[in-house]
Amino acid sequence: MFYCFNFADNINNFYAFFLIMSSQNVYILGIESSCDDTSAAILCNDCVLSNVVASQKIHEQYGGVVPELASRAHQQNIVPVIDQAIKQAGITKDDLTAIAFTRGPGLMGSLLVGTSFAKSLALALDIPLIDVNHMQAHILAHFIDEEGFDKPEFPFLALTISGGHTQVVKVTDHFEMEIIGETIDDAVGEAFDKSAKILGLPYPGGPLVDKYAQLGNPKAFPFTKPRVDGLNFSFSGLKTGILYFVQKQLKENPNFIEENLHDVCASIQHTIINILIDKLKKASKETGIKSIAIGGGVSANSGIRKALKEGEFKYGWKTFVPKFEYTTDNAAMIGIVGYLKYLQQDFTDMSIVAKARIKF
Ligand code: KG4
Ligand code: ZN
Repeated sequence: MFYCFNFADNINNFYAFFLIMSSQNVYILGIESSCDDTSAAILCNDCVLSNVVASQKIHEQYGGVVPELASRAHQQNIVPVIDQAIKQAGITKDDLTAIAFTRGPGLMGSLLVGTSFAKSLALALDIPLIDVNHMQAHILAHFIDEEGFDKPEFPFLALTISGGHTQVVKVTDHFEMEIIGETIDDAVGEAFDKSAKILGLPYPGGPLVDKYAQLGNPKAFPFTKPRVDGLNFSFSGLKTGILYFVQKQLKENPNFIEENLHDVCASIQHTIINILIDKLKKASKETGIKSIAIGGGVSANSGIRKALKEGEFKYGWKTFVPKFEYTTDNAAMIGIVGYLKYLQQDFTDMSIVAKARIKF
């Protein structure tokens, strides 16, 4: 069987120390079903053995995730996805040490599928059950052992940017996190997707805006940045600004979008990235922390990656971007939280229920 052992960054308690001294491998099954991706992963300690993701294409035709359809698709996908993850890892279900699942935040109908399945399987196998906060998992994905990817040292700032969330989090330990800024309306991924929809692009439009932006002029069309106090974000005004701008241009030239797609996408992306970087600069200045780690689907964006690299030269930041497959919704990130909680023997019981809204 695959052998893998890495010293955890923090040996939190006697049990973790015992595991390390006895070189005992821990096999965690991670289950993620918070939105529209059904995912299962097997981790051996902090190494990923498999990470299977079934994305739901059904939502594309509706221009966004339809909760009821997402829940039904999770029900169809969950068994084959978990089965495949176990097979790909080269283990059997009897080798599992514990099961970690996303408790929330997310869509209730979607969360219920993963939660119920995790509870049933843990009960049947008589192994510990570990509940995981999805947003913590996006941050702790940085602690997956992966060649060529450094783990951030504490304290660091995490920018979690996805279709559902936009947060700046001060992370002082694996499970000591404080949200110091967040969106007061739309998430940054929504800003990308809704802008894309205005331009007639299919859902999810974020990756397409990124693609077209690469050949455009980011300063072609200046969009107004919102004024929001402190470290919070707002993206709904920008979306409305883009809508009015495009409607006005289309009245003058019905071919405006086709003729200017690259420049419009580049300008939208430039504005969104400026908003994010401005807040990061403020957060870094206020906290004195210069290590910055990003997570969530939008961290795949080429513009934010470039802007962070520039931040290393301009502001002395040290930046961390996880491997691409661990940025979007995936179960490997749930598995690493499961492993870190396992080291602390932090388990939950069968009374646990899914929760659509939870903070850390
Ligand atoms: O983390 P994630 O997979 O799911 C949520 O928890 O929301 O993030 C999905 C979001 C979508 O809004 C998608 O458009 C956006 O991430 N996204 C991007 C890029 N790749 C994914 N946005 C901008 N540029 C990208 N390259
Ligand atoms: Zn997510």
